Amino acid sequence: GRVAVLFGGSSAERSISLKSGAEVLRGLQQANVDAFGIDLCADGADPLAQLQQAEFDRAFLIMHGRGGEDGTMQGVLEIMAKPYTGSGVMASALGMDKVKCKQIWSAAGLPTPAYVVPDETTDLQQLADRLGFPMIVKPAHEGSSIGMSKVRSVEALAEAINAAQQFDRAVLVESWISGPEFTIAVLNGQALPIIRLETPHDFYDFDAKYQANDTQYHFDNALTDSQEAELKRLSEQAFEMVGCRGWGRVDVMLDEQRGFQLLEVNTLPGMTDHSLVPMAAQEAGISFEELVVTILRGSL
Ligand code: DAL
Ligand code: MG
Repeated sequence: GRVAVLFGGSSAERSISLKSGAEVLRGLQQANVDAFGIDLCADGADPLAQLQQAEFDRAFLIMHGRGGEDGTMQGVLEIMAKPYTGSGVMASALGMDKVKCKQIWSAAGLPTPAYVVPDETTDLQQLADRLGFPMIVKPAHEGSSIGMSKVRSVEALAEAINAAQQFDRAVLVESWISGPEFTIAVLNGQALPIIRLETPHDFYDFDAKYQANDTQYHFDNALTDSQEAELKRLSEQAFEMVGCRGWGRVDVMLDEQRGFQLLEVNTLPGMTDHSLVPMAAQEAGISFEELVVTILRGSL
């Protein structure tokens, strides 16, 4: 059947999705799949009208952020009775919410950094006493490190909460894990080779993710065999507990005292030429074309 690659959208990660979408479309076409792209919300277009006018049998979803990765588009495709790649409505909605994921993982006994969701009544000094500096401030429903900052003082904390609130009503403040940071692509429930990230930036921020050439990606992850097995198992469990399907990527940091700590799961991770899932697949001997075809085959 005909495959519509759905990309673009109107979230803060639209520019990343344009790149991911172009790569996915090229990969599918190279694999001789009858695929075409739809840039949803381009120039303010109505995405529902765009979907209704298009003729397709299944969808390859590669939108990042709210309105694409968060279950809403998955719900539209359910109603249209079109099979689509990746996670369903519930897991997509949960994956977009860093706080809900942490609650699920904590309830399942999986490790995740201590955090606070501040509101108007929160005493920032008390928050600082509880989590300790540095801390990391994040919008609860963003991706690509948008709106995030690392803070080392109460004044900076107030500013960072304000900055994150520009992107999202809900903000979380997490205790800082010194790292190293790892990312684990999961394909059909199985962890692919672990990538260890090293950046001279304060943390693995938007620039380090997409622009800078100073980020290093290591497959020699400096872990023992048992740590490596533990990290893969933890990532598969984190994916499974949220109810994810098909493919995704789990971000984890290693704390000296507390061991591996789950940061988040991405249900529609980047597929740009700087992105991590294609890198991990390649390390596993899976070409980009094979990767997109495998993801497509998993569409339900
Ligand atoms: N949110 C970006 C696209 C990622 O996780 O790769
Ligand atoms: Mg993310």
